[in-house]
Amino acid sequence: MPKLYIEGKHQLNGEIEVQGAKNSVLPLLAATFLCSGISVIKNCPWLLDVESSLKILTHLGCECKFEDNTVTVNATNAKNCDIPEELMREMRSSVMFLGAILGRMKRAVISSPGGCELGPRPIDLHISALKKLGANVKEDHGFLEFDSGDGLKGCEITLGFPSVGATENIILSAATASGTTVIRNAAREPEISDLADFLNSAGARIYGCGSDTVIIHGVKALNGVTHTVIPDRIAAATYMAAAAVTEGELTLKNVMPSHFVSISSVFENMGCKIEPIGKSLKIWAPKKLKRVPTVRTLVYPGFPTDAGPVLMAALSVAKGTSVFVENIFENRYRYTDELNRLGAKIKTEAKVAVIEGVDNLSAAKCHCTDLRGGAALVVAALAASGTTEIDKIEHIKRGYENISENLRRLGAVAYEE
Ligand code: EPZ
Repeated sequence: MPKLYIEGKHQLNGEIEVQGAKNSVLPLLAATFLCSGISVIKNCPWLLDVESSLKILTHLGCECKFEDNTVTVNATNAKNCDIPEELMREMRSSVMFLGAILGRMKRAVISSPGGCELGPRPIDLHISALKKLGANVKEDHGFLEFDSGDGLKGCEITLGFPSVGATENIILSAATASGTTVIRNAAREPEISDLADFLNSAGARIYGCGSDTVIIHGVKALNGVTHTVIPDRIAAATYMAAAAVTEGELTLKNVMPSHFVSISSVFENMGCKIEPIGKSLKIWAPKKLKRVPTVRTLVYPGFPTDAGPVLMAALSVAKGTSVFVENIFENRYRYTDELNRLGAKIKTEAKVAVIEGVDNLSAAKCHCTDLRGGAALVVAALAASGTTEIDKIEHIKRGYENISENLRRLGAVAYEE
């Protein structure tokens, strides 16, 4: 994989079309497996995680095609019910396919998803919910076998934590279960509403997404549909941070500003001017960013954990000291050591990070520790003097489409070789 080189201190100006949401596309691709016939997913970014998802669907017996940001999936001849171990390891969120496979095939076999760069990624909430829906679960040498006998049966499920993935897996498996399922303390992220919109247009009966109580009336069958993915609010936050650290002026097109109000308000507190205009949002950056006393990551609609790293990169060149509290993942700070190689002054202790703003960052050789940590390095490199070399950029390509090309179009000096 090539490395990414960024020569910093170039102002970013202009406009960018924000990609479709990675965290929407993955459950949507899983949902196509539930549908007989052909489904078409539009506004789909070409990402390594999308490529992995299409490999899984192909293994399951689907015919998949990706062309011009549109995925076509024909799930008529679905035949398998297992996710190959190498694909589970390639993409931890393959667990998202569990509910759809179990819902369609009444059996599913996955290897226990190992930890990932963000620490242990348990799936206890997924497993206990599927058991409540009537699935028998067997663990054998690191493999999990789920069997729902003659089919899942709707029930009431209360999540101990509003897990995004668990909420999505319950929706995917309950959509064609018999009876009604009620999820209490459900996650409220916009990507879950996007999944419900797809399933409802395919014939499902799902209500309440976006609130903490979701009701699913099981139906017998779902038919393939055409659906357009919502914009990626985390990619939007990433380009906002890039403009913020380069005194830039940027218009983000094809966004839904209501999905990232908590992000916009933090950038406004840092001295940026932000103007949502319909499905666009304009950001003007100040000459010098202001610190933010405390940022806490929370479940939606609070400040999202995925936007934390790029915000941290921006705060590292703000005037003053900011405090960050990561409340969602156990080990999300691995990238801060790499930011400190560029001259940032970040100290972390368990959930807390203290960022002492510096006047200047300077180029260094660094490497991506994970997807959003890699995005943070890109933002920091844009602010740094000199040319930064970023290695292991496959992490970035999991979630960002054409990032170096997009940055060049906005005035950055960024290239891969
Ligand atoms: C989704 O992950 C996203 N991934 C993550 O985005 C995002 O950070 C996360 O939601 C929170 O918003 C996709 O949508 C593909 P969770 P998910 O289940 O579903 C614990 C990115 O960078 N937990 O809400 O895995 C878990 O360990 C990625 O785009 C359990 O304890 O998130 C974590 O601490 C990173 N048991 C917390 O809950 C479970 O059974 C949040 O996890 C499940 C989760």
